[in-house]
Amino acid sequence: MKGIILAGGTGTRLGPVTKAVSKQLLQVYDKPMIYYPLSVLMLAGVREILVIVTPDDLAGYRRLLGDGSALGLEIGYAVQHEPRGIADAFVLGAGHVGDDQVALVLGDNIFHGQGFSGVLADAVKNLDGCTLFGYAVADPERYGVGEADATGRLISLEEKPAVPKSRRAITGLYLYDNDVVEIAARQRPSARGEREITDVNRAYLELGRASLVDLGRGFAWLDTGTPDSLAEAAKYVQIIENRQGVRVACVEEIALRMGFIDAEACRLLGEELANSQYGQYVMRVAAESGG
Ligand code: G1P
Repeated sequence: MKGIILAGGTGTRLGPVTKAVSKQLLQVYDKPMIYYPLSVLMLAGVREILVIVTPDDLAGYRRLLGDGSALGLEIGYAVQHEPRGIADAFVLGAGHVGDDQVALVLGDNIFHGQGFSGVLADAVKNLDGCTLFGYAVADPERYGVGEADATGRLISLEEKPAVPKSRRAITGLYLYDNDVVEIAARQRPSARGEREITDVNRAYLELGRASLVDLGRGFAWLDTGTPDSLAEAAKYVQIIENRQGVRVACVEEIALRMGFIDAEACRLLGEELANSQYGQYVMRVAAESGG
């Protein structure tokens, strides 16, 4: 399975912060925002990842992530010159996806919860068509909203409905079979000139090939789109990390635990950051594994 992280967009709701810095490079407590969705793909076992960025921000992402080899990944970049919708990722990324399945994650979505890697592994193994992940929220009208039958088959899907049929928001993590490349390519842009991900998902729904996996209330799915939600997400990560002494979305640790790098490589990555508590944590994790 290939991976795509969408880190384009202008982040205008976070202006003026995002005038000079890409939103997905902003800090969420102790690490850049993009580490969180990158962790999700890594936990799903995905190692070939395309990051979609704006022309202005390409250099920053390259500085941060390089070609991914330090983490045992293959990271490439595609430039999106103007916002053209989430589903444009499959047009820009068609060559990257090739004839494989693909996981798309939005670069500003944060997922955290016990057993998430198991949920991901099951979803990847059982993928047939498309799999979406739902999460009950207090304000579903701000999101895509879905409903599933008892077997988990998606039966309705609406984008930002004024009167939601359920409280189940569709999160920014999507798994697809290879048909998505063709489905997205033939999708007509919406009134705002964008290829909408909900239209792609609805195409799968109409074929009866869309599933909805429910992330239970023990999970956290956090938004980072506004100053308040960004500050809350940072606070959440801070509280969990300080209480438990383990880090959320530490990509070096995940690379080690997934077997993408060895303990020695992990230690070297920690050493590069030895002046920060994050770096010291990476070194400790490496040492505990013999690095
Ligand atoms: C997009 C999708 C929406 C989804 C949300 C998740 O909305 O269109 O269906 O629920 O991401 O973050 P946007 O954030 O672009 O408004």
